This record gives sequence, structure tokens and C-alpha cells, in this order.
Amino acid sequence: MSPYRAAAKRILDGAGARSPKVGMILGSGLSAVADAIDNPSTLPYTELEGFPDAKVSGHTGQLVLGELAGVSVACLQGRWHAYEGHDLADLAVPIRALKTAGCETLLITCAAGSLRAEMPPGSLMMLTDHINWPGLSPLVGPNDDALGSRFTDLSHAYDPALQGQLREAASDASLELHEGVYLWCLGPSFETPAEIRAFAHLGADAVGMSTVPETLVARHCGMAVAAVAVITNLAAGLQSGLSHEQTLAAGSQAAPQLTRLIKGFIKTLVEPSS
Ligand code: HPA
Repeated sequence: MSPYRAAAKRILDGAGARSPKVGMILGSGLSAVADAIDNPSTLPYTELEGFPDAKVSGHTGQLVLGELAGVSVACLQGRWHAYEGHDLADLAVPIRALKTAGCETLLITCAAGSLRAEMPPGSLMMLTDHINWPGLSPLVGPNDDALGSRFTDLSHAYDPALQGQLREAASDASLELHEGVYLWCLGPSFETPAEIRAFAHLGADAVGMSTVPETLVARHCGMAVAAVAVITNLAAGLQSGLSHEQTLAAGSQAAPQLTRLIKGFIKTLVEPSS
């Protein structure tokens, strides 16, 4: 059995009658969002076949199963980054496991640096599109036709209907939700001011070191993707000095607003507006 199928089976065994419908990924400093999950049960990544180790501080490395706004969710608390040295193809396993366990929707969260002064630290930005700056993909290699076709259409990488539901949830919760294009940088170094100026010309609104590989895997296997970035800093050259500590601190400060947005969003998945 392929690792993602074995992991999906373990997830379904752990979920019992509550098979997950929505998968979630929590970004740097955003682990606290999982505290809002009702009736949680956890599966350490070490018990899930094919799940790579998640090493970055601020990431705990477990799957949390339970309900959010009455919907069964499976939440990856701790993610993998290409800069840790993983084989990119290995990063596909957790997302494929969620899909195989029944998640048709994937909600990705991440920390990001802002290229726009009017989108300061603490802001929430919904991703409307992305730029794959490293030009790398976890889909390189043999294609698993059982999961998806060789050539994935990314015309709507971030599902337009889900974007509408995020807007609605933000408005209902009186939260400001910015929108923009996320540019993936490999990291682990932050960008130079010259790179940030170049990225602004390319049409980027925010930069980060995650999300894009996960979106590629999810779209390949037909999941609908929504993504929200927590702006933890202004990008290089727009503020003095950047650090991972600042990312973690700003992330945890914004976690309550993000949690409110996510709960409202998930509610719209079961109660579509008329
Ligand atoms: N650059 C890249 N990744 C990030 C940043 C940044 O400024 N902030 C949070 N993640």
C-alpha cells in the first residue's frame, strides 16, 4: 500500500465516526488555532506512514482531529518546508493522505512578509493567486494517475467560491481581509531588499516560504484550496531587520483573529449563504 493510503487509513481509524471533511495546515506561530478544535484527538506524525519529520520551532508535528464549527476537520499542526532539505515529492504524502481520508477542501494558513505598507504586521491576507519563484514542484517525477492528471490546471489555484466564502466570513466577523498574490521563496534566508523590489514589479503582494508546494499537491488531486496569510512583518527593505522570532510572535498575536475567520469560513461550508 502506498504511504499516503496507509496514513489515510490510520487517520480514518483515529477519526472513528467523524471522518474529516476539511483539511487544515497551520503556519508559523499559528499552532494555537488548533486549540479551537472541539473534541480533539491527536495523532503524532511519527504514527503516520510517509509523514516526514517537521522540525522548525513553532511547529509541533501532529495531526489534530475534531470539529470546528460543527464540521469534522483534520488539522496539520506543524508543516514541512522545502528549506529543511526534504525531498519535495515527500511533502505530497500528508496532503494526499488528507484527500484520501475524505477531505475535499484544504485550508492553508501561513506567515508572510508584506510588500505593501498599507498591509502592516497583524493583517490577514487571503491568497488570490501565487508566484512559484523557485520554479520547483512536488509533482515532478512519475505521475500517480489514480490521484490526478499529469498536467494540473492552475487557472484557479485558490478556489473562487471559497474566496467568496472567506470574504463573507470576514465581513460577518467584522475583520479586515486583504487580498493578494503570494510569492513563494525557497528560504531559509529572508529576501534582500533588491529581491523584494523586483518581486513588487512581478506583482507580488506578500512573500513566504511555504504554501505553494502544498497548493500544487492539493490541486493535482482535485482538492479545493483556500489560503490565508498572517502578515508578520514588512518585507526586507521596508522595515529594519527580520527574524523568525518576530514571525512567531506576530503569528501568535494574530491567531485569535485568524481563528474567528476560520470558524466563520467553515460554517459557510455547511450553511451556504442564500
Ligand atoms: N519573507 C519570507 N517568509 C516570511 C517572511 C518574509 O518576510 N515573513 C514571514 N515569512
